[in-house]
Amino acid sequence: MSTQQKSFSSNLGAILAAVGSAVGLGNIWRFPYITGKYGGGAFLLVYLCFVFLLGSVLMISELVIGRRTRRTPLGAYESLTRKGHSVVWRMFGWLCVLTCFFILSQYLVLSGWTTGYVWHSVSGALATLGTDSSIISGFFQQFSTGGWNPVWFMVIFSALVLVVILGGVQKGVELASKVLMPILVVLILVLCVRSLTLPGAMRGVEYLFSPDFSKLTGEGILAALGQALFSLSVGMGVMVVYGSYLPANDNIFKTAMWITACDTLIAILAGVAIFPAVFSCGFDPAGGPGLVFCVLPNVFNSMGTAGIVFSVVFFLLLLVAALTSAISLLECLTACTCETSRLKRWQGAGLFFLLATALGAVFTLSFSHLSEVKMAGLSLFDFVDRINSIYLPPICALCTVIFFGWVMPKEAMVDELSNHGTLRIGYLKVLRFIARFIAPLALLVVLIWGIFFAQ
Ligand code: PFF
Repeated sequence: MSTQQKSFSSNLGAILAAVGSAVGLGNIWRFPYITGKYGGGAFLLVYLCFVFLLGSVLMISELVIGRRTRRTPLGAYESLTRKGHSVVWRMFGWLCVLTCFFILSQYLVLSGWTTGYVWHSVSGALATLGTDSSIISGFFQQFSTGGWNPVWFMVIFSALVLVVILGGVQKGVELASKVLMPILVVLILVLCVRSLTLPGAMRGVEYLFSPDFSKLTGEGILAALGQALFSLSVGMGVMVVYGSYLPANDNIFKTAMWITACDTLIAILAGVAIFPAVFSCGFDPAGGPGLVFCVLPNVFNSMGTAGIVFSVVFFLLLLVAALTSAISLLECLTACTCETSRLKRWQGAGLFFLLATALGAVFTLSFSHLSEVKMAGLSLFDFVDRINSIYLPPICALCTVIFFGWVMPKEAMVDELSNHGTLRIGYLKVLRFIARFIAPLALLVVLIWGIFFAQ
């Protein structure tokens, strides 16, 4: 058994692995800029409601389904269903696999850029750019449209992910999370301290926390829900797989709350690490998606020599966060492959490593050699971004809560949440009410809005 053992060795290991999946580019790259865009504290309030009301319910649902069945989404949903409906839920399992695959392929593009920026900050190339915004943006432009160059960085990143997966569940995924997550926390705290001690830092804190409800549009509310799901890694089966590795005595409700709280805390810390520095150095906080790659290098360069260290620390932090999330996506795909075929773990992992890396390369090249190729009038990257934000995750999340609230036997849910009657589950009524009514309704609204009204 040893390295292939299909369960985490401890409750702490399980929490760290799941937090590793949840904390990723979504927290450090995406959360700060959309918070800034949609009204700071006002967005944060809505986000917190979605995270704790809906996100955590999805997290509990997936962990329960996974541990109950000890299977991947391909078999888990089917096995908890009455005979006649099992085909539909098996197809849903496949939809989860497809979603994971597309998310991983797109995630690899940004992870490749991150790996490139780690290299360019270590080599000193970023430091030589000075503090001229157009030069720094030009560097990013040149790098991201630089043909095969960013692809090679992506391949290095994917290979790191593969190595961890080949190590197995305990000696790969769990060990990597146990090592990398504490490093991530230390790195982010170092950056927060530095950022908060810069002159004028409090304006950044205000920007992040003071609520401006005039900026909170309907679009912002939907963005908050989308971000809550993406950030918690729920709605695509990854947490079903991690649930299937949970120790039998784990209190699922508590674990889900820990994961949710840690993920949210780290997203907020990322904002605290970024905005005070941005304000202190006099840059535009509404830098959008380019905040991390175009604005931050400028911030670091205006800090003098110490900026070089902080630049390395920051991009390493981003790399670590991306790694543990990509690991969870490849783990899900690998586990699904092993469950449904005769392939060995290394073969399943290798297969999806090749497929996702190849597709990731295509998406990376859509900024350069393949920029002419369009789908539905969008570049390939924008096309997959649309599918990955508007269609697949909300559909999967909706099916998951419907399954948890309406399809799976209530006794199985109660038994799993109470660890066979040994834990008190006073929250059950509220949980079921949210899973049956509130979450499906909210997700349906998001889906319809996304399909018909999103730009
Ligand atoms: N939660 C990750 C992030 O915030 O970057 C992204 C992610 C990982 C989404 C794994 C979905 C997933 F299954």
